[in-house]
Amino acid sequence: MSNLLKNRTDQAYMTIFLDSLRVDSLLDFDLYLNVNHNLILYRSADLPFTEKTRQKLIDNKVDRLYITNENKHNYQIYIEKNLDKILVDPAIQETKKAGILYETSTSLVKDVLANPTLGENIHRSQELVANTVGYILKGRDAFLSLMRISSFDYYTYTHSVNVCTFAVALAQQLGFDDEEFLHELGIGALLHDVGKSKVSDRILHKRTPLNQIEFEIMKKHPKWGVDLLSETDLIPATSYYPVLQHHERGDRSGYPSNLSLDEMHIYSKIVAIADSFDAMTTERVYQKAIDSFPALKVMLSLKGAFDEKLLLAFVDLMGPDGLSDV
Ligand SMILES: [Fe+2]
Ligand SMILES: [Fe+2]
Repeated sequence: MSNLLKNRTDQAYMTIFLDSLRVDSLLDFDLYLNVNHNLILYRSADLPFTEKTRQKLIDNKVDRLYITNENKHNYQIYIEKNLDKILVDPAIQETKKAGILYETSTSLVKDVLANPTLGENIHRSQELVANTVGYILKGRDAFLSLMRISSFDYYTYTHSVNVCTFAVALAQQLGFDDEEFLHELGIGALLHDVGKSKVSDRILHKRTPLNQIEFEIMKKHPKWGVDLLSETDLIPATSYYPVLQHHERGDRSGYPSNLSLDEMHIYSKIVAIADSFDAMTTERVYQKAIDSFPALKVMLSLKGAFDEKLLLAFVDLMGPDGLSDV
């Protein structure tokens, strides 16, 4: 049988970076090479990926390979398992590490939104948050690399990853460096909108403002998120707070419980800021994105809505080098 595969459609394959493959690991997916615009089976899944293989590819100036879309899930799991090693590998450029982390995170959140009550998905989220926290703790450059590659188009999965990044970085900016704190916050931030998986696409993607009935349904997503996550009950108890309270506002104008700032958990106050900022600065079907600086100005003008000390720390976090890049 010939190994030569016609490059039928680009959609049948996806590109992966050579840097994402660990030497001496077993790859649970076939690798293809692009040779004169034809994709050729280079290494089948049952062969170990060795240093010799890697060096040969580098010598031939290959830095990306291909996998079939059918193997995408296997690749995703492989990357998640090896993410800790990838993120500390000195041979991999920082921007590439940020790209791998961001892509892995968004793919995982897609899986979670498709099946939020699957325990395995929640376990994977916990592992991913541990890696994200570790990465952001490396310092401001790591955070900025993640921000530079973050998507400005709004989807619940990219939004969830952006909010997790902002929330963990804001906590670090505030001096919270306890890993348990950052992990509990991070998992709550990543899963804060999981209840939207129960809201119909018609409402989620509506191009015009929601009518009252639709808004009442939308307002249920924090509670639905808690309900869904309670089914597996794998996340820490305190991580439920930001899921339930991220739309509360300190002036009691939020939902679902019109809480005051004093009644909101610290994780919820942090996620409320990260969530609002990302919602304003990403492009929505019904609303143009605004730049970071005007978004922060709007948030500062809403007196009492956000915790002022946290919001000022967020302004510090974003600027001036952060602001010029977003
Ligand atoms: Fe939300
Ligand atoms: Fe959100």
